[in-house]
Amino acid sequence: MEAFLNKGIKEIIDQYPDVEKILDEYGIGCGPCSVGICELKDIVNIHNLPEDQEQALMQKIAGIIYPGQDINIPPGKKKTPAATGEITYSPPMKQLVDEHVLIKRWLALIPAVVNKLDLESDEGRQLILDGIDMIRSYADRYHHAKEEDILFKYFDEDSEILQVMYEDHTTGRGHVKAMLAALDRKDKATLAEHLLAYRDLLAEHIKKEDDILYPWMDRNLSTTQVGELFAKFSEVDEMMGFSPDKYIKFIEKLEKQFYVQEEKND
Ligand SMILES: [Fe+2]
Ligand SMILES: [Fe+2]
Repeated sequence: MEAFLNKGIKEIIDQYPDVEKILDEYGIGCGPCSVGICELKDIVNIHNLPEDQEQALMQKIAGIIYPGQDINIPPGKKKTPAATGEITYSPPMKQLVDEHVLIKRWLALIPAVVNKLDLESDEGRQLILDGIDMIRSYADRYHHAKEEDILFKYFDEDSEILQVMYEDHTTGRGHVKAMLAALDRKDKATLAEHLLAYRDLLAEHIKKEDDILYPWMDRNLSTTQVGELFAKFSEVDEMMGFSPDKYIKFIEKLEKQFYVQEEKND
């Protein structure tokens, strides 16, 4: 079993497709991951399952890889108790999670915006430009910069988990470029396609960060490092003179515009 702990998960899933179903049962969605080079042992560590669940998961995987054999599962590392319910974040990590909330409100609006896509009127085009501005300025330049320039530097940037995060950020930037080009050409279908692809990508990305990456980082940061992070994030806020007000207003306006019916029902 030791040998498999050091193997890449994609390789294991390719060889034993049922392993993906087992991981899914424990809320570990490796199948759709775009990179998937994490080793099985890292996945088990990063997801921080309670001891009994981790043992049960490994037994099930061993049952698929070595059917009918009695396999000795190495005991998991001593760990802090896994969160059962709400996750508690350190203050700097909580800031990032809060920033995700505004980004998720925009992601939730994208299907409605796509449904009513209008590239003929100035107003319709402006809505898309404003949405793209929110992605570039708030989600990318402000939020992703905190992650890439500060937070990720505390960890091994060549590690698989961070490679996945970087790749998601890069893919998102590619969608934004494609959105702008499509907007220029008034190509509704391509614009819609990239808006929706961005939405799917980022929704999944944020979930990975909120549920897996940030809690894992919090478990590995010292109190001093958490304090440093908090100070560095505050510096960014000050230096950029950044206020999310403009984007909050943009989102609130769109929510009123697109969720009128729901508000009436409240
Ligand atoms: Fe990110
Ligand atoms: Fe993020």
